[in-house]
Amino acid sequence: MPRLLKTLSRRFRLPFNRRFAERRLQEYHAKPRSLNEVVDWAMNFGGGGYLTVKTLQIPYEITCLAETVQAIKPKIIVEIGTARGGTLLIWSHLASERVITCDLNDMSVQRPLYSRFPPPGSNCQVTLLSGNSHDAGFKARLAKELNGEKADFLFIDGDHTEPGVEADYNDYKEFVRPGGLIAFHDIIENQPLEINQVYHLWKRIKPGAEVLEFVADPNQCGFGIGVIKVPA
Ligand SMILES: C[S@@+](CC[C@H](N)C(=O)[O-])C[C@H]1O[C@@H](n2cnc3c(N)ncnc32)[C@H](O)[C@@H]1O
Repeated sequence: MPRLLKTLSRRFRLPFNRRFAERRLQEYHAKPRSLNEVVDWAMNFGGGGYLTVKTLQIPYEITCLAETVQAIKPKIIVEIGTARGGTLLIWSHLASERVITCDLNDMSVQRPLYSRFPPPGSNCQVTLLSGNSHDAGFKARLAKELNGEKADFLFIDGDHTEPGVEADYNDYKEFVRPGGLIAFHDIIENQPLEINQVYHLWKRIKPGAEVLEFVADPNQCGFGIGVIKVPA
């Protein structure tokens, strides 16, 4: 479908999709959720158009990452690459104070939904930043949001080109506290798209670092999560 038609169709369906998303969110919040349930919701929340919530992750890999992040009892999580809010749903369950998630896309339509991802009773506040993570002004906006505080966990899942992911790592690692974690998605070598080049950075930075790798199947195409522990 041509882009304009797709946009018009999404706008037309927005009220229906919003009602569906609201119903799903109510259902999600109807009872306390285990981490496994949250991951399941992140993959199967569903919906349509702008308000589809989902993540393209392998359940085993994202569950291992979520458990690793949960173990450090994060207060603040920063994510580069919101997409359809799937991983944001998981971080909103784990962070006790704040999740700041960034994407090139304008997220004003999604804001009312995403800001209510944290479970009932949680003090976690969700902040959506739209813009290009490679812009100097964008880094300054994030610094302003953090207001001198450090994140416990940074998830880098935006620009997957080697220079792009490297720029995100170099620009944003300073915002993670000593002992905190930085994770990258799509670290395995065999990728379906040529622009997925995270592997090239990963193999350069992991020697000598304290790392974890979550890869469901060494022969899979795409995916794989690498985690670096920031030295204490
Ligand atoms: C793979 S998706 C993120 C998936 C999401 N973390 C999940 O698993 O649910 C990558 C997202 O990064 C965003 N992105 C790509 N380059 C970016 C950049 N330079 N700055 C901010 N966002 C970027 C894209 O718009 C896209 O929505």
